Amino acid sequence: MNRRQWMMGSLLAPAARAVPAQAGPKNIVIASSNGARACARAREMLEAGGDTLEAVIAGVNINEEDPEDNSVGYGGLPNEEGVVELDASVMHGPTRRCGAVAALRNIKTPSKVARLVMEQTDHIMLVGEGALRFARAMGFQEENLLTEKSRLAWLVWKRSLRDPRGHGNWGEGLSAPAKKPAAWLREQFPKADEALLAWAWEVALHPPSGTINCLALNAKGEMSGVTTTSGLAWKIPGRVGDSPILGAGLWVDQDVGAAGSTGRGEENIRVAGAHTIVENMRQGMPPREACLDALKRVARNFSGDRSKLVQFDLSFYALRKDGAYAGASLWAGATRQGKLAPRRFAVNDGGQSRLEGCAYLFERKPE
Ligand code: GLY
Repeated sequence: MNRRQWMMGSLLAPAARAVPAQAGPKNIVIASSNGARACARAREMLEAGGDTLEAVIAGVNINEEDPEDNSVGYGGLPNEEGVVELDASVMHGPTRRCGAVAALRNIKTPSKVARLVMEQTDHIMLVGEGALRFARAMGFQEENLLTEKSRLAWLVWKRSLRDPRGHGNWGEGLSAPAKKPAAWLREQFPKADEALLAWAWEVALHPPSGTINCLALNAKGEMSGVTTTSGLAWKIPGRVGDSPILGAGLWVDQDVGAAGSTGRGEENIRVAGAHTIVENMRQGMPPREACLDALKRVARNFSGDRSKLVQFDLSFYALRKDGAYAGASLWAGATRQGKLAPRRFAVNDGGQSRLEGCAYLFERKPE
């Protein structure tokens, strides 16, 4: 990769909205691309004078409670045993406090539990069984977080597993007449439509690590953030990604700004992405450059080897204390028509939420 290619993403991508130096803080919320509704709800609460942390948590609760969002909370894709395990973190700028939970089962809204860890304990992070006991003690109801859709996806993933001879335990068995995977799936899920089965096959082959990150600034200059996720699909039980790791999936410094992430958590943890971005902004980098610098550190960890980097994606979001903001991802995709399709992120600074293009480091080739 030459210098021109390295820089191309930065040059082609849309610039972050720069806020004039004299502008004061304003009510603004940004989030990952699945966060348009979250931004709208959070900003409404800011307009009504609500606290920034209360606002972003209320925003992401929409996703956590939505069975159709398979990256977060209820309906999130489960671990390899078919159990949904959730991670979340929160940071409150004005009080400089934070809380997190990891590998939490049976509770739809881990962001609310993370907030209670911050407010009701002298600890910062609770995990696994301890986090669940704490949530129960705080009055949360336990429920099965696996929906029919995510159960289907999990079974399709199990069906896709094969030993080197092509044999899998989940299927028709050696003695049964051979069936193609599509026929087997149709038999298992007679009511599922083609689009649902195609989606399930896609997530079986390419396990996603979707998440929602949401960051807010109010007119008083106060900031907060939250990141919540069901983590990497089909993970080993107990795997914890970047979302609940303060400094990786989320960081807020009331003096500087806030940052968060979505995508492959393992790579973000190796660069402490959110903290790195906030420190970059403290040193004077605009949000966009601050995010791109963190992504360059990710690429550096692979010595820029695109054959490895192409196997995952990672996105960062940054909101500075004066209201300047940006999103940036490792990759911009290419459509079959060969057009560039940058990843997007959600913004609400009044009216309806909008999606803006992320800056990026690399371009994927058309298929
Ligand atoms: N970024 C979410 C995860 O890797 O778990």
